[in-house]
Amino acid sequence: MDALDVAADLSEVLFTSDQIAARLGEIAAEIDRDYAGTNPLLVGVLNGAVMVMADLSRALSIDCAMDWMAVSSYGMGTHSSGVVRILKDLSTDLVGRHVLVVEDIIDTGLTLTYLMQNLASRNPASLEIMTMFRKPDAMKIEVDVKYVGYDLPNQFVVGYGLDYSGRYRNLRDVGILAPHVYS
Ligand code: XMP
Ligand code: MG
Repeated sequence: MDALDVAADLSEVLFTSDQIAARLGEIAAEIDRDYAGTNPLLVGVLNGAVMVMADLSRALSIDCAMDWMAVSSYGMGTHSSGVVRILKDLSTDLVGRHVLVVEDIIDTGLTLTYLMQNLASRNPASLEIMTMFRKPDAMKIEVDVKYVGYDLPNQFVVGYGLDYSGRYRNLRDVGILAPHVYS
């Protein structure tokens, strides 16, 4: 669905699917150059990163592998707690691999900080982050991110994999969720 289908639930449309695709193309070109000849492992964080992973991986010209992790960050709400639990681990051995974590959004940075420490302890050859969205004003911990799609205002957004209570993940565009939906 697109922003028109859920117009009443969005207070603003931030990025259309065309804009997102164009930005991903630019990032893919950078990754092609940086990882040439290395067969990187893209690690997607379920469920939010599914769309980014699908589109980014197909925009790459280089060969890559993919694997997935699921972590619980903060359930159904709209605020981060920093409590992280691994619900599904990787099936790939990271030793000697060039690992690129693919995220939908970095908010406080708490989830990713935990995840990066965990992945670093598995001795990859390199470990970097690509995130489609980032909220600079919400960050509680500095996270070193190599590739960022867009920086966002500190508001709750949905679409392109991002959900509110399981809804709006299949929205092609990204918008700010109208307060009446969650209050
Ligand atoms: P932290 O705060 O630890 O959390 O960086 C990152 C995770 O929180 C979720 N998140 C959002 N989900 N709209 C969403 O749909 C948002 O605006 C938003 N902000 C944070 C998301 O699961 C992300 O992986
Ligand atoms: Mg997520």
